[in-house]
Amino acid sequence: MTLTLEQKYDYYERSVQNAENEVKFMRSQYKKFYGRNPLFFREDFCGTGAMSCAWVKADKEAVSYGVDLDPEPIAIGQIRHFSKLNKTQKPRVSYLQQNVLNVKGVPQVDVICAFNFSYYIFKSRKQLLTYFKTVRKSLKKQGVFFLDLFGGPESQKLITDVKPMEGLTYYWECQHFNPLSHECTFAIHFKDAKGKKHKNVFTYHWRMWTLPELRDLLIEAGFSKAYPYWEGEEEDGGGDGNFEPTEEAENCDAWVSYIAALT
Ligand SMILES: C[S@@+](CC[C@H](N)C(=O)[O-])C[C@H]1O[C@@H](n2cnc3c(N)ncnc32)[C@H](O)[C@@H]1O
Repeated sequence: MTLTLEQKYDYYERSVQNAENEVKFMRSQYKKFYGRNPLFFREDFCGTGAMSCAWVKADKEAVSYGVDLDPEPIAIGQIRHFSKLNKTQKPRVSYLQQNVLNVKGVPQVDVICAFNFSYYIFKSRKQLLTYFKTVRKSLKKQGVFFLDLFGGPESQKLITDVKPMEGLTYYWECQHFNPLSHECTFAIHFKDAKGKKHKNVFTYHWRMWTLPELRDLLIEAGFSKAYPYWEGEEEDGGGDGNFEPTEEAENCDAWVSYIAALT
């Protein structure tokens, strides 16, 4: 039996997202930068809009806009997340089925994010610069753009990471990596509680951008600063989930991190 749409996005979110934590992270970093709480948020490539819905729960005046081209995750997100908001929260969330390159009807915001590497779909420098410029223009005077990225030599190998979870196993497979262009294909597979494997539930055709390339492009797009973050370490060498801005880091085999770009 194939996965229902509900299962597809439930498995995805349980495996790769923690919307509440991401919102907490962005709000705390924004406060460190500007000494106040951010209110207006745009979630680019929002999928189900989990973060947009978490955002309005964090502050009774907070407002969010989720932008995604695909009606499928938006429809599921309305059931999974939006429908569970209370009547003071619902009017402060908008889902927009639009292209992030040309967002209409959204005022300038304090924070924009592009998470789960979604902007890797822009494979040329010109395209990514255009996107970063539109993000820069969509931010208020005191604005932050958060993006995540991954890297390290392991992430370029044709291997599969396996994460066993309660009632679910998550697989992250690198199916193709071209060292000349950094064009790559990644896929997500799941094994459900009954042991049935669901292959290629999500497939991504991306360019794996490097951190220095992204910082250069962000500055070129008009951001004043682009701070890289790095994750702290547990005693066993694994990540501890705490990210801090830094300019020096250990050369890990595989890592996930953030950049905060300031207007
Ligand atoms: C990797 S998913 C990310 C979902 C969610 N943001 C997350 O963090 O897990 C990428 C999403 O980007 C959307 N997308 C791709 N190109 C887009 C574009 N040009 N404008 C808006 N959304 C786009 C896809 O429909 C998909 O839902």
